[in-house]
Amino acid sequence: MRPRSSQLLLLAAFFVPGFALAETHELTLEQDVRPILKEHCFHCHGEGDKLKGGVDLRLRRFMEIPTKDGDHVMVPGKPEESEMVKLVKEGEMPEKGKKLTAAEIATLEQWIAQGAKTARPGVETARKERRSVAVNKGGVPATPLRWEFPIDSDRQTSASSG
Ligand code: HEC
Repeated sequence: MRPRSSQLLLLAAFFVPGFALAETHELTLEQDVRPILKEHCFHCHGEGDKLKGGVDLRLRRFMEIPTKDGDHVMVPGKPEESEMVKLVKEGEMPEKGKKLTAAEIATLEQWIAQGAKTARPGVETARKERRSVAVNKGGVPATPLRWEFPIDSDRQTSASSG
């Protein structure tokens, strides 16, 4: 059993295009890319009062919205057609502030080349999760509740905090 699965991994690393030998895992937005965008892009493209150029980079589906000029911010599988890669490589973005390192640019490109995966497909986490309100419906909750301290229930995901 064991030898076989490691052989498979080796084969995958060898044959899947875009697989660099050093980076054999699949990159995800949450784990690999969002920290880079958060550091370099979010203050103009997501977290400020205004979205610069109308571009929001917080969620994958926002990145797929074309710009007003019809450019594609991000095309899954095609870093060379993705405006966000082009602009970063040309040094035009971030417009101000610290430029990305070569390694950060490579991560961005590789993530898009791999199809721009998110950690939990279909469920994106940048918005505050709504807590289900089982109490306050004027009755006994149907399922036993685990009571939490207020500080616990105010907790946010790190992606949604400022
Ligand atoms: C200091 C603010 C600022 C930062 C930081 C910033 N941008 Fe921008 N970005 C802008 C502005 C302003 C525009 C609109 C430019 C225009 O329309 O000419 C823009 C436009 C864009 C566009 C759309 C270009 C088009 O074709 O209309 C993309 C894509 C983009 N930025 C990506 C990024 C990425 C990726 C980062 C982080 C690596 C980033 N930006 C960081 C200010 C910023």
